[in-house]
Amino acid sequence: MGCFCCLVKSSKKSVTEDYSHTLNHKPTHFTASDNVKIVNGKKEDGSKGDQLALDVKNLNMKEGVSEDGKEGNRAQTFTFSELEAATGNFRLDCFLGEGGFGKVYKGNLEKINQVVAIKQLDPNGLQGIREFVVEVLTLSLADHPNLVKLIGFCAEGEQRLLVYEYMPLGSLENHLFDVPPGRKPLDWNTRMKIAAGAARGLEYLHDKMKPPVIYRDLKCSNILLGEGYHPKLSDFGLAKVGPSGDKTHVSTRVMGTYGYCAPDYAMTGQLTFKSDIYSFGVVLLELITGRKAIDHTKPAKEQNLVAWARPLFRDRKKFSQMVDPLLEGRYPVRGLYQALAIAAMCVQEQPNMRPVIVDVVTALNYLASQKYDPEIHPVQSSRRSPGMKRDDDHRHNCSNEHETDGSSN
Ligand SMILES: Nc1ncnc2c1ncn2[C@@H]1O[C@H](COP(=O)(O)OP(=O)(O)OP(=O)(O)O)[C@@H](O)[C@H]1O
Ligand SMILES: [Mg+2]
Repeated sequence: MGCFCCLVKSSKKSVTEDYSHTLNHKPTHFTASDNVKIVNGKKEDGSKGDQLALDVKNLNMKEGVSEDGKEGNRAQTFTFSELEAATGNFRLDCFLGEGGFGKVYKGNLEKINQVVAIKQLDPNGLQGIREFVVEVLTLSLADHPNLVKLIGFCAEGEQRLLVYEYMPLGSLENHLFDVPPGRKPLDWNTRMKIAAGAARGLEYLHDKMKPPVIYRDLKCSNILLGEGYHPKLSDFGLAKVGPSGDKTHVSTRVMGTYGYCAPDYAMTGQLTFKSDIYSFGVVLLELITGRKAIDHTKPAKEQNLVAWARPLFRDRKKFSQMVDPLLEGRYPVRGLYQALAIAAMCVQEQPNMRPVIVDVVTALNYLASQKYDPEIHPVQSSRRSPGMKRDDDHRHNCSNEHETDGSSN
């Protein structure tokens, strides 16, 4: 495996990690299932100087100040009837999807003449008032091309709704997995563009926001895509203000999504910026391999993506077996090696061995700038091992007529 230092310029800035002190939290156990949100472990110590005032009534959008001292986006308030009208009373044909926190609808808000996505929080769902307020506050402070914009919210009676900019291409998850027949799978360049954009969004949260923010819920379904597959991070309900001063972590309930959650965070409840780096590494692996973080349809040894990938990382000859078969060999060999090197660094067991986000951004910006053109560059043979086949790749004929030894590009 190539050294990460060879791929990126070293960064002066780093989040100091110190795990030398004994961690006295009991490990948190949770059942594994697809897209299961983890809400577990010890009670969050939100009261002690940690975080944000959590009273909806005190939401004061004017106090948001971003990196450069500018006021953040001011989220507008909407009445419930305005949002009802925008979605035709939450009509089925406006329904976009549903997550752990509630249903999402497409709507047309006449008041601002804009198509929007409206998330109606399920009162019995996992997102409580706290997450609602955190989401409004975080997104009101944030302003970056790789973060989804919060246009406004509604907190009327029992109703809690969030109004976002509409992302026309939906989530990365919908493009990467279970690709329906007739739809072209994402090509290599698009995958690298999405990875680099998502990393820039995370860099903004970690390094540019004041106070810095740990995202805590990075996963494919939370990367939304705009025109030209422009990626934006969404869903900040679980975001946490990062550690300040000499502190290296904040203690929290373990929350996130199974398969993306860093093992150190799952075990100890101590959340660091490196927890997000681990989740980013899982997303990058998903982009490269086309495999889900957790997939119960696969044989036991392949169900957890990181566990499946770790032994393969050690053997360069196996790299071509890791790549998504839907790419049909259309990827640059060097680019694949580099992308896998970054992913391997990010998902390291030891949090202090994972890179800081600025280095990930540098490496991925470079990779995304190296455009691959199958017309010019060789198409690789797909040397699959048993079990490497994607369920849906029977639809595609592998066009590997130009086999190479993979030494170029
Ligand atoms: N701003 C948006 N524009 C367009 N589609 C969106 C938008 N926000 C969400 N969606 C769609 O709604 C779906 C559900 O989103 P939601 O965030 O509620 O759930 P999730 O990301 O699958 O899970 P989780 O609750 O863990 O975040 C997404 O997968 C996406 O397809
Ligand atoms: Mg989501």
